[in-house]
Amino acid sequence: MLNSSILLSAAERFGTPFYLYDVDFITERVERVYRFFKQFDFHLAYAVKANFNLDILKRLNELGTMVDIVSFGEYEQVRKAGFTPDRIVVNGNCKSSGELKHYVSDGVFCINLDSFEELLRLEKLADKPVRVAIRVNPDVDPKTHPHIATGLKENKFGVDYETAERMVQLISKSRFIRLVGLHCHIGSQIVEVGPFKEAFESMRNFASKLGLNLELVNLGGGWGIDYGDGRQLDLNEYEKEIFPILKGFGAKVLLELGRWIVAPAGFLVTKVEYVKRTKNKTFIVVDAGMSHLIRPALYGAKHRIEPLYPTNHRPTIVADVVGPVCESADTFAKGLKLPEPKEGELVVIRDVGAYGYAMSSHYNLLRKAPEVIYSKENYLRASSA
Ligand code: LLP
Repeated sequence: MLNSSILLSAAERFGTPFYLYDVDFITERVERVYRFFKQFDFHLAYAVKANFNLDILKRLNELGTMVDIVSFGEYEQVRKAGFTPDRIVVNGNCKSSGELKHYVSDGVFCINLDSFEELLRLEKLADKPVRVAIRVNPDVDPKTHPHIATGLKENKFGVDYETAERMVQLISKSRFIRLVGLHCHIGSQIVEVGPFKEAFESMRNFASKLGLNLELVNLGGGWGIDYGDGRQLDLNEYEKEIFPILKGFGAKVLLELGRWIVAPAGFLVTKVEYVKRTKNKTFIVVDAGMSHLIRPALYGAKHRIEPLYPTNHRPTIVADVVGPVCESADTFAKGLKLPEPKEGELVVIRDVGAYGYAMSSHYNLLRKAPEVIYSKENYLRASSA
């Protein structure tokens, strides 16, 4: 972890709570993923939804990645960061006609079609060549939290293979729409290779059954990171199990990682306001809440919480760490053991670079946490986002 003195000096400058992102870590992750896939014609299309911070996007633009976007807001943000349309992949299950027109006219790299209905809509409005991939729903259980499983047949995303086949036929007769690939994204925070294997094999079988000559295969995102329980996607196993399937496609490989690239680069620093003792429990009340980080409340997510104060000679207490929001769900940890903090001391909540600030709100009219960028070159600065 970047050392705690950096977080403490950021706290002095920016006040709490705040998010801090280590952009050098993000660079290392990007370089690592390109090295990992070096035997393939490969591109990372970073999933902007995980963290749309402008400084992060600018860094990714400099590194030459592509991006995956799911709304016009994200489209404008990546354009602002310098991404040209030919490096933008468009996702999402609800693209309006106006948005589609814009993507066609700008010439984005690829639009991932989420439904037959969307194809009909695009066919009606396309007035120049447009590249598409079909998002298939392979009906695979990703063994993750149900809120973030997306590739089961009861989920709203993608199409079954029968529908995909009808779409292929329709596209083959289209004047402007060109099928360049297949796409699937089965879920997020996936720590087992098995579900990926099942999904990609079924996609490959579909492609070969139809004799599709694909330019690209888009694997979606979903790589699970270690939030502190030691469980994460094993990349050695991934290489062993997945690379042979990818070779079978003989196509360019796209990967839409979000979390794996940015989550461990993010820190949420918050101040202890009170240590409240009731007859039943001890609560550490901090100044960040579910408005700043909703993952624990929404998914039961567990993030490591660590002291940024001297811990020697402090008694260990068992406490719930809670925020200021008027909801009992506003709880970051239950029954956490840690050296007793004093009022005004700081703790850090880790691995919040993905789906942290991006999902934050103004609930209870709390002030949005500022975002701070750390890099070896520039040390600390307020983000321009
Ligand atoms: N591609 C598509 C089409 C997606 O829907 C997603 C995430 C990704 C890529 C990136 O997935 P990642 O590599 O980050 O797992 N808010 C939830 C996660 C929602 C993920 C939504 N889609 C959370 O905090 O866990």
